[in-house]
Amino acid sequence: MTAPLLQVDDLHVRFPISGGGLFGTGRRMLHAVNGISFDLAKGECLSIVGESGCGKSTTALSILGLQEPTEGTIRYRGQPLAGLGAPGRMQRAKAVQMVFQDPYASLNPRQSVRTSLAAPLKLHGITAASEIEGRIEAMLKNVGLTPEQAGRYPHEFSGGQRQRIGIARALILEPEIVVLDEPVSALDVSIRAQIINLLLDLQEKLGLSYIMISHDLSVVEHMSDRVLVMFFGEVVEEGGWRQIFETPTHPYTRRLIAAIPDPDTALNPGEALLATDAALPDGRRFVSDGSVAPDVFTRPVPSALTEIAPGHRVRLASTA
Ligand SMILES: Nc1ncnc2c1ncn2[C@@H]1O[C@H](COP(=O)(O)OP(=O)(O)OP(=O)(O)O)[C@@H](O)[C@H]1O
Ligand SMILES: [Mg+2]
Repeated sequence: MTAPLLQVDDLHVRFPISGGGLFGTGRRMLHAVNGISFDLAKGECLSIVGESGCGKSTTALSILGLQEPTEGTIRYRGQPLAGLGAPGRMQRAKAVQMVFQDPYASLNPRQSVRTSLAAPLKLHGITAASEIEGRIEAMLKNVGLTPEQAGRYPHEFSGGQRQRIGIARALILEPEIVVLDEPVSALDVSIRAQIINLLLDLQEKLGLSYIMISHDLSVVEHMSDRVLVMFFGEVVEEGGWRQIFETPTHPYTRRLIAAIPDPDTALNPGEALLATDAALPDGRRFVSDGSVAPDVFTRPVPSALTEIAPGHRVRLASTA
């Protein structure tokens, strides 16, 4: 068995919340990510799902090296990011790229597609005009656009085309790992399948490994090898595609599956998910005392992930 490309080991990210405590003097911490671990193998698509605020983007930014973990280690090809010198960081920045949710916000409106795509190449020392042009042409074709479109600006494209540009920009440095943070949630439902199919084609053609982030299980249903279900900073269930979609075990995973829209009737698939005041079967509950962000939670009963089948782990109710 080959070593995982990426290993995330007991990742914690905490943010200070100002003004916490009864008299505004305490210093409470928001546990955005609370001890998550996973491996990503070469060529695999690992999906991370969970509702808004559960820590998906914070996890993504930590993997990209853009958010300092409070605790834990992230290794790329066995090398921890912490302690890497500048050349090592550059190398990793090239190997791990991200596609953002909103392609309009992530593209500079004043830059042509050519300028946007050339920037990362130049940053990484590729300066010959002919090579830059050749790479841009090839990449635009890869994402279903034409080389002639390189001179155009973001507003001249549709939402789906803009996301194709966002994907081109993430792939232009030939990364090994691409973190896709809600890559289709800003798009019309009719366009989503096209972009997902494009991502699948590119994964196969370029041998990419994906971390696919979504609040909506239906989006990842067609592209995951494995799924991590996150709930308020923790993994509550992890398993292969079949284990998650056919034998979901944690009540929260079941709730996400139940919220997958029926293609004939659904209009707003996200709506059914949001019930954060629910008490959980493992004894945790959410605190919303008015003085702090409503998404702070306490954990009176710690519980661990239990392996119920090979590779299928669930955070079961604890009787401790
Ligand atoms: N820089 C920050 N400072 C303080 N709190 C933060 C910061 N970044 C994120 N948070 C908080 O951490 C929690 C997790 O945020 P995160 O963006 O990771 O969630 P998410 O799962 O990506 O949500 P969404 O689906 O809305 O994108 C949220 O409560 C958020 O408000
Ligand atoms: Mg997010």
